[in-house]
Amino acid sequence: MSEELPKVFWEIHNGLPREGPGDNQSTRKAYMLLKDLPKNPRILDIGCGPGMQTRQLAKLSKGQIVALDFHQPFLEQLKNSARKEGLLDRIKVVNGTMFNLNYEDNSFDLIWSEGAIFVIGFEKGLREWRRLLAPDGYVVVSEMSWLQPDLPDEAVEFMKQVYPVIKTVEENLDVAQKSGYRIIDSFVLPSKSWWDNYYNWIEAKLPAMKVKHKDNKDALQYIACEETEIEMFRNYSDYYGYVFYILQVN
Ligand SMILES: C[S@@+](CC[C@H](N)C(=O)[O-])C[C@H]1O[C@@H](n2cnc3c(N)ncnc32)[C@H](O)[C@@H]1O
Repeated sequence: MSEELPKVFWEIHNGLPREGPGDNQSTRKAYMLLKDLPKNPRILDIGCGPGMQTRQLAKLSKGQIVALDFHQPFLEQLKNSARKEGLLDRIKVVNGTMFNLNYEDNSFDLIWSEGAIFVIGFEKGLREWRRLLAPDGYVVVSEMSWLQPDLPDEAVEFMKQVYPVIKTVEENLDVAQKSGYRIIDSFVLPSKSWWDNYYNWIEAKLPAMKVKHKDNKDALQYIACEETEIEMFRNYSDYYGYVFYILQVN
């Protein structure tokens, strides 16, 4: 993912409640599994986007949260909604890149990243972020994963195009262990939360986008990719999805 994405991408994506699948109940479910957090945890939310999960973390914890993303309009959206909810004094919004996290070792008790570790890579992210965590600190990430052993050809072909490095849950758990974490738990994000906070919003925008960009081949091609992605999930959500991985420094 880069800031070089086509203009139509931002037209479709700006202003959504989330920038990827997720929901507040799942954020809460994952957070409640963290039994050894200090009373006022220091939290880093990487690739926070418009920050639905950041605000939920602020409500769940009494901690201070650094919310980091490289797309300023998402950060403005987060600031506005956090201000309205009286949460902004505990959320520090940072425009930065996950490829250059300028924090000292042991700076955080919890690193959170919903639907964003794929940008740096599941293994690379887990390995690089570990030094930022206090002893017994936690990482909670959601990552697209295969959910079943026998996969339909069409789903496999689609993933080869969009996310060829996708792994099974067991493979990701193995990667996490080899990267210096113990497994606290993992669970599949309900498919409903792909629709309610993400795909339904995108689908609603597409007809107008097609009209607006009717003479722009590249934009139409991009819109077709969004449609394919949504159609694939409609057909194959039993086979792939986002999985929450709840990990603790070993
Ligand atoms: C799929 S979205 C998830 C956003 C949010 N966590 C959510 O669940 O709604 C991925 C996010 O990562 C951000 N991102 C992409 N590349 C990044 C980078 N190099 N550094 C920081 N953030 C990045 C994007 O701007 C986007 O907000």
